[in-house]
Amino acid sequence: MLYYSLVCRLITLETRNLTVKLNGYNILENINLRIRGPGLYFILGRNGSGKSTLLRALAGLLPYRGEVLINGREIRNYKRKELSKIVGYVWQNPFYGFFESTVEREIRFILKNINSEGRFEELIDYFGIKKFLKRSPFTLSGGEAKRVCICSVLVADQQIYLLDEPEGELDYKGLEKLVRFVETESKRKLIVVATHNTLLAHKLRESVEKILIIHNGKIVGEFGPEILVNKEFLIDVGIVPVYWWLE
Ligand SMILES: Nc1ncnc2c1ncn2[C@@H]1O[C@H](COP(=O)(O)OP(=O)(O)OP(=O)(O)O)[C@@H](O)[C@H]1O
Ligand SMILES: [Mg+2]
Repeated sequence: MLYYSLVCRLITLETRNLTVKLNGYNILENINLRIRGPGLYFILGRNGSGKSTLLRALAGLLPYRGEVLINGREIRNYKRKELSKIVGYVWQNPFYGFFESTVEREIRFILKNINSEGRFEELIDYFGIKKFLKRSPFTLSGGEAKRVCICSVLVADQQIYLLDEPEGELDYKGLEKLVRFVETESKRKLIVVATHNTLLAHKLRESVEKILIIHNGKIVGEFGPEILVNKEFLIDVGIVPVYWWLE
């Protein structure tokens, strides 16, 4: 138990004046985050606010100014392979991440880095992937592709899972699985979910540590789940409040 809590305490994610410029525009500006796992964090923001850019920068997939520190160490000082063992980024659009000829090869690809089976059997069973293993990932439906994408990254059992709109395309069963997975995993990992979907955050409100609001490339506040029912504030930053759906 002591060992477990010592290991858990090591998961930290910090940025100092993180700035990302793409095509001459500052997409993220001076982001200062300090989050600590295990736990679940949401980054909520309207379309184009910078959520995906932020998660990709945290995963070391984009050039940036400022600093990104994982467990106290700047990610530029990690080897690519080393970083991919610690952080898993699940693409918003699963098809961007696919490049192998079969689903099985896609999911096994990252396992070469860690020299083990990782969570292969467990995750393909849990997310109902077995029947697609021999198919090309490019032939999958949207929801099937999303589940394969989740497995192909998280199979390496990283300490930090960065999930970019993980609920997109999922039906009832897929959402049930995802929600249960995030609830359970956030007890031992640091999970960051980026989305504009307040319903997902509402569903997971009891597991959430903090909800960070991103607007025009800046973090404009850190809140508890009570922010999800603050209509005025959310509409102001272009996010659909939970109860809008029920009115
Ligand atoms: N390579 C690029 N060149 C120029 N602008 C870019 C580039 N990549 C992203 N952007 C712009 O940066 C902004 C932030 O994009 P990002 O994908 O991070 O938004 P998001 O919050 O994830 O949006 P969504 O909810 O639609 O997924 C958008 O306006 C986008 O058009
Ligand atoms: Mg996005």
